[in-house]
Amino acid sequence: STSDRRSLLSLVPVVPVVVLDDLDHAVPVARALVTGGLPVIELTLRTPVALEAIAAIAADVPEILVGAGTVTSPALVGRAVEAGAQFLVSPGTTPTLLREMAGSGVPFLPGTATVCEAMAVLEAGVTEMKFFPAEASGGAAYLRSLASPLPAARFCPTGGITAATAPSYLALTNVGCVGGSWLTPSDALAARDWERVTALAAEAALIRSSTGL
Ligand code: 3PG
Repeated sequence: STSDRRSLLSLVPVVPVVVLDDLDHAVPVARALVTGGLPVIELTLRTPVALEAIAAIAADVPEILVGAGTVTSPALVGRAVEAGAQFLVSPGTTPTLLREMAGSGVPFLPGTATVCEAMAVLEAGVTEMKFFPAEASGGAAYLRSLASPLPAARFCPTGGITAATAPSYLALTNVGCVGGSWLTPSDALAARDWERVTALAAEAALIRSSTGL
């Protein structure tokens, strides 16, 4: 339910998705997001430092919920949780990956992009999922079309979403939050411009209320 405290979809309007190249950026980025009002961070397992970054944030920034994204294989589930990941996000879903995530003990968002994939996840008893790649897969219009046939499914659309397009997703009844990397642009990280990250987070933290929801 939407009031479930473990629901990943009800914590913040925008989940910051972060691709980190430099381990030294992990803690300052996490702190900048917290300061901006977004106490959630998804570290993508796309760079060599990602698991260490999760561990550093879990140790040094206890006020943020830190998770692992880009979980593309069952083997990464245990490694992410061991590193300190408090939630898991995958771009797509296979039966073995879904089983592994369901047994991980932490909340997770399996990736889906089609009606069939969402139905397979629902069949496994999982109602919260990622919709990826959101813009390329049909965007808000596609998700709106799923609300009536699949009323139990709730989504975190991610992929190509911006501050400008996030409100159209957040207005949908079957969307709890969106995900995006626009809060942590690579040039801001390279310049260690944490104030810019805080400003982008603060803007994103207000998106839901600006739609009146
Ligand atoms: C993801 O892993 O969810 C996406 O890479 C984030 O998408 P974006 O970079 O287009 O925001």
